[in-house]
Amino acid sequence: MLPRSVPATVARRPWVSLPYFQPHIPEPPPVIPFDQLVIDTDRLRLRPLAASDADDVYAIFSDPAVMRHWSTPAWTDPAQAVRLIESDREALSGRRDLRLGLMRADSGRVVGTLSLYKIDAACRRADIGYALARSQQGQGLMNEALAAVIGLAFDHRPGAAFDDLLLNRIEADVDPRNGPSCRALERLGFRLEGVLRERWQVAGEISDSAMYGLLRADWPPRPVRAA
Ligand SMILES: CC(C)(COP(=O)(O)OP(=O)(O)OC[C@H]1O[C@@H](n2cnc3c(N)ncnc32)[C@H](O)[C@@H]1OP(=O)(O)O)[C@@H](O)C(=O)NCCC(=O)NCCS
Repeated sequence: MLPRSVPATVARRPWVSLPYFQPHIPEPPPVIPFDQLVIDTDRLRLRPLAASDADDVYAIFSDPAVMRHWSTPAWTDPAQAVRLIESDREALSGRRDLRLGLMRADSGRVVGTLSLYKIDAACRRADIGYALARSQQGQGLMNEALAAVIGLAFDHRPGAAFDDLLLNRIEADVDPRNGPSCRALERLGFRLEGVLRERWQVAGEISDSAMYGLLRADWPPRPVRAA
C-alpha cells in the first residue's frame, strides 16, 4: 500500500523511483526570538523592556488611576519594576509570554505595555493585556499598538513574527466597569462572550470578568456602518 501522499500518476508507474518525485520543501525562515522583536507603528516602537525602562514602567504601574481595574494593586516600590523587567527576560525565552514596552517614537520614553501571554500552541490561542500611562490615554495609541500586534499574531505567512504559533484566537479578561478598555477591544472587533461573576479580589475589592474573544476569522475588524 502506497502512502496517501503519493500522486496517482506515480502509483501507476511503480518503476519510477519515488524519492525522485518528492517535492523540494524549502526551509522555513528562522523564527524571530521574542527578545529581539521590534514592531514600528506611526507613533510607537514596540519592543521588549530593558533595564533602563524601569523608571518609566514604575511611573505607569504605580499610578492608582491606571491600576484601578488591574489584577494587582498599584505598585509602591520601584524595585517592582526592576523585578518585572528581569522576569520578562526568562519568560521571553520560553515563547509563552510576550510583554512589549510601548515606546513613543518622538521621546524614546516607554508610555505603556502590551502583553500577549499564556500562549497555548496546542489550542492556538493567547490572552492579551495592556496599560497606558494616564497622560497618553485618549489619543488612539493603544489602538495603534493593539492593531499592529494582533495583525502580526494572525499573520500565518512564513517569515511573519508569530508564524510558528498559528494563533487563531485572542482573549481578554476585563472588568466590565472599565469602559475605555471595553471600547478599545470592541473597536478592534472583539466580542463580549460572557461575564464571570466575582472572579477577582484585589485589595479587598471584588470584581467580575467580562470575557472578550477575537477569532482570526474576525480580523481585520469590519468598519462600523452609520445607521
Ligand atoms: C484601556 C486603555 C489602554 C485604553 O486607552 P485609550 O487611549 O482610551 O485607548 P485607544 O488607543 O483605543 O484610544 C481610543 C480613544 O482615543 C481617542 N482618540 C484620539 N485620537 C485618536 C486617534 N488618532 N485614533 C484613535 N483614537 C483616537 C478615541 O476617540 C478614543 O476615545 P474614547 O474611548 O473616549 O472613545 C487605557 O484606558 C488604560 O491604560 N487604562 C488603564 C489600564 C487598564 O485598565 N488596562 C486594561 C486592563 S483589562
